[in-house]
Amino acid sequence: MQTRRRFVFGAAFAAISASLHGWQPTLPLQAGSVRFAAIGDMGTGETPQYELAARMESFRQAFPFDFVITLGDNIYGGSGARDYRSKFEIPYAPLLDAGVKFYASLGNHDSPSQSLYKPFNMNGQQYYTFTKGNVQFFALDSSYMRPKELAWLETELKKSEADWKICYFHHPLYSSGGFHGSSTELRGILEPLFITYGVQVVFAGHEHSYERVKPQQGISHFVEGASGQLRKGDLRKGSVLTAAGYDQDRSFMLVEIAGDAVHFQTVSRTGQTVDSGVILRSAIR
Ligand SMILES: [Fe+2]
Repeated sequence: MQTRRRFVFGAAFAAISASLHGWQPTLPLQAGSVRFAAIGDMGTGETPQYELAARMESFRQAFPFDFVITLGDNIYGGSGARDYRSKFEIPYAPLLDAGVKFYASLGNHDSPSQSLYKPFNMNGQQYYTFTKGNVQFFALDSSYMRPKELAWLETELKKSEADWKICYFHHPLYSSGGFHGSSTELRGILEPLFITYGVQVVFAGHEHSYERVKPQQGISHFVEGASGQLRKGDLRKGSVLTAAGYDQDRSFMLVEIAGDAVHFQTVSRTGQTVDSGVILRSAIR
């Protein structure tokens, strides 16, 4: 009887801890690490965006990230004061109040004037770079990839001395999304630069689902375009590109860069962890 009771208790405890595990940050929270969230295609102003934003705040309590990168389509349907309010300032108020900074990139639905909107930290630039710890970020405007932007990117990548070089923009170079798929023309322009100058990780949006693409040319690609919008069931099943995917609900990514490791965790609107893992610098190329 005694043995059986112990067994039942043990099984119940295991079940509880397994269910909790999926509902909490699993990132290492290493001292001095670079911590951020990534969201894309979020600016609808509708209930799912608000619910996902609330989930981000609940995870921030346990995983205090300092900033958010946005992967475009930040504000759908106009960029007036009321749009900024209902599609950005209200849903993300708990994050903004906590001092979390947003670094936006622009999508095809975004007005270029968003670069002047102070809380997006673009300083009037449609493409720009910033550094956090040992990581340099390059926010690109993939809707208008003109020679001037490419020349700027090459100059900045060439002089970067960061351990990690991360590019983010709206249109994915690789995607198994059924609606748009891979932006192959853009890939032909950007990928050679990424390879030459050692970009290791790329984030994009545009497709309204989450996908972790198998490393391409040694580069890890994430697509997170379901932080407000959702195209349920849109990921092509059995795609050779997909390492992991989620197209059943909205989601956001949490990322922690600690030394030579990029840890990531993707969380759904209901708080379920739908993907997680680590990218090691030593394993690249
Ligand atoms: Fe888009």
